[in-house]
Amino acid sequence: MFGPRLQGKVALITGAGMGQGRAAARLFAAHGAQVVVADVDAAAARSTVDLIMEAGGTALAVSGDVGVEADVRRMVGEAVGRFGALHILYPQAGVLWKDRDRSVVETEESWWDRVMAINVKGVYFTCKYGIPHLIEAGGGAIVVIGSVSALRGFTLPQDAYTASKGALISLTKSLAVQYARHGIRANIIHPGIVDTPMQATYLADPSKRAAFEGSTPLGRLARPEEIAQVALFLASDEASYVTGTEIAVDGGYTATGG
Ligand SMILES: NC(=O)c1ccc[n+]([C@@H]2O[C@H](COP(=O)([O-])OP(=O)(O)OC[C@H]3O[C@@H](n4cnc5c(N)ncnc54)[C@H](O)[C@@H]3O)[C@@H](O)[C@H]2O)c1
Repeated sequence: MFGPRLQGKVALITGAGMGQGRAAARLFAAHGAQVVVADVDAAAARSTVDLIMEAGGTALAVSGDVGVEADVRRMVGEAVGRFGALHILYPQAGVLWKDRDRSVVETEESWWDRVMAINVKGVYFTCKYGIPHLIEAGGGAIVVIGSVSALRGFTLPQDAYTASKGALISLTKSLAVQYARHGIRANIIHPGIVDTPMQATYLADPSKRAAFEGSTPLGRLARPEEIAQVALFLASDEASYVTGTEIAVDGGYTATGG
């Protein structure tokens, strides 16, 4: 029914060495995008690129820390140096450290700052250096990853993470309003629990896994590809009138209301 939905587009995806970022990189490439796979783990980024190339796609691995401005500036420069333009920013690298990121009473300032540096400043830096290229290209799309944790409180707190994702909702709306006149759309996806390396430690405990599944109306966790499909839609021209909005992709979790 659809042709390649991102033909002719260049997409920069941060945190694309594994998890949801890798799934999105593979999917975007399968739909014709030239994909810049950015990750702090250089080997992981290269292996995502290998998977894309084996499938006949085009991709470039770049490595750096999204919380470090000079790294992001360099990675964007490498992307544009190789592909000549940028149309899609998917700054989705993020960290959830449940052992160190707890209630505000328990969390060390240094860990709070580190979570904010990756989850919030990573998006800020990617947009800071990426948006001028989207403007130059005549428009584009920004897809941000929030979390259902930013929509509800939890009895088991992860407060730096939750606050970081809440900040991204506001930032996304601001980007949508500011850059609409440049033909740039910005939207945020709120995944539920996704079966990725981020959650591996917790999901290894069968009772925790069952609790996650039991709290989700669809009765299971998300696969990373299911989030990537929504990102693909938001990144594509099919979403040409969708901007400044939030989409929960959570198996009905937030619909339960409590
Ligand atoms: N997995 C979930 O249940 C879930 C739920 C809601 C939201 N999210 C969000 O989705 C996004 C992707 O999560 P995931 O589950 O795929 O995580 P993941 O841990 O499986 O993968 C994250 C990737 O980001 C990279 N990364 C980490 N820190 C980085 C940094 N400083 N600079 C560059 N790259 C860095 C990692 O190396 C890794 O490749 C994150 O923003 C996360 O907060 C995840």
